[in-house]
Amino acid sequence: MDTATIHSRSASGIDAPPVRVEVHISGGLPGLHIVGLPETAVRESKDRVRSALLNTQFLYPQQRITVNLAPADLPKEGSRFDLPIALGILGASGQIPLEKLDSHEFIGEVALTGELRSVRGALPVALAAASSGRTLIVPSGNAAEVALVRGARCYAATGLPQVAGYLCGTGELSGCPFTRPEPAATETLDLCDVRGQAAARRVLEIAAAGRHNLLMIGPPGTGKSMLASRIVTILPEMTEAEALEAAAVQSIAHGSVDPRLWRRRPYRAPHHTASAVALVGGGSHPRPGEISLAHHGVLFLDELPEFDRRVLEALREPLETGEVTVSRAARQATFPAQIQLLAAMNPCPCGFHGASHRQCRCTPAQIERYRQTISGPLLDRIDLQIEVPALPPGALMRQQPDAESSATVRRRIEAAHRLQMQRQGRPNAGLGIRDLDRVAALDHESSRLLVAAVERLGLSARALHRIRRVARTIGDLEGSPRLTAGHVAEALSYRRFDRPGTSTP
Ligand SMILES: Nc1ncnc2c1ncn2[C@@H]1O[C@H](COP(=O)(O)OP(=O)(O)OP(=O)(O)O)[C@@H](O)[C@H]1O
Ligand SMILES: [Mg+2]
Repeated sequence: MDTATIHSRSASGIDAPPVRVEVHISGGLPGLHIVGLPETAVRESKDRVRSALLNTQFLYPQQRITVNLAPADLPKEGSRFDLPIALGILGASGQIPLEKLDSHEFIGEVALTGELRSVRGALPVALAAASSGRTLIVPSGNAAEVALVRGARCYAATGLPQVAGYLCGTGELSGCPFTRPEPAATETLDLCDVRGQAAARRVLEIAAAGRHNLLMIGPPGTGKSMLASRIVTILPEMTEAEALEAAAVQSIAHGSVDPRLWRRRPYRAPHHTASAVALVGGGSHPRPGEISLAHHGVLFLDELPEFDRRVLEALREPLETGEVTVSRAARQATFPAQIQLLAAMNPCPCGFHGASHRQCRCTPAQIERYRQTISGPLLDRIDLQIEVPALPPGALMRQQPDAESSATVRRRIEAAHRLQMQRQGRPNAGLGIRDLDRVAALDHESSRLLVAAVERLGLSARALHRIRRVARTIGDLEGSPRLTAGHVAEALSYRRFDRPGTSTP
């Protein structure tokens, strides 16, 4: 037999489509030829595989070796095909038996010494292999992340000889039994650290309960960043499926999954100098950006107007669709990006516009320019816009024995979240327009209130729906199936930027 077929997988977004690595050894001039759209890294495999075979106990056939990566139209990147190619050569040259190959899948980079090195995206491969029913062999560096997949049969190997020994039946590989990382140690942050700011805390609770986007505006040092960083302590728990998706993005971006982050909603706070690619993803081998790393969690943009305007505009579409499609020359990748956007900004360049204790020296034109960095359409996508005012002197020093802890607030949020899941299977922020009529029907009084506000404030249709979604969350926090004018009025009060005469907050 002079051919062998090895099962492996490529990466496309957070999916892992199957790839068959076919190896044929034939007469002709000695050499290794890889066909089937290989990119630079795959071509480099040639040299690594040759050295690895020569440096271990194997023979490198002095014949023509043809490697076909099928399907040919699927772009393939990375060194993950080293192990399948090496095994294909061993199989086709009769150095290992072929029987077990069909029931196994392999990924891994091979070092020149024959050791296996971990690769990016092993978790999505394990998920896909589990549903195909095959056993997956990975480098031992990827063992921890593939162990997160329930129902996957995986083994980890340290080197090519170990894998060959396993396939020959002369050696064993260590299994990667399904394990769940221990929950992270207790939180160090807590909402009760925040003094005063009752209104802002209330809005943070609404935002967390319905996964609404939130913009906080206020002078420096009033607790905006403090509040934002504490949202992770009150967010509802992720489901298993959500946790696996978030971990899959990490696996593709970093090549490993941090067990301390397992089942914790991601919180990403990129610096304002971040580029569009860093934020939304991209690169010649598309990688997820911050917005995808925050999938099912929170993306916090502190000092919002300091971000490049084009960078902010790039967020508009993913905010609406919950995914990002990055196109590079011949290839495209779609990454998930269901995020909750949190943003903070000062009211003006000096920061003290409207503050009672310091005078603002900005001109109206400066303030207007500062404000305009954030476009109307982006603002329109932010359901909750509130002021976080300076605290009266002394308020920071006052003890707050009755301040609610994150645990207390989280219990209310979990209850509101459960209501939403039972009713519509998704958080209120993701309610479609037709769902709104069903689950957020307005009585006569509340619709009159809303229509009057729309006329007075000149609100867009999108803003109108957003107000209804927020009102639904306020109702859910109270456990109230019906929406009242009170709920709508409160939701309306959180559109700080929409009010006439307040284009500069
Ligand atoms: N409400 C508050 N309760 C307790 N501490 C506070 C409060 N507000 C501010 N502080 C203190 O001030 C520090 C700065 O707060 P924070 O970074 O949240 O301000 P900010 O509103 O984000 O300001 P900036 O606009 O400058 O970013 C905090 O680390 C905290 O020590
Ligand atoms: Mg801040």
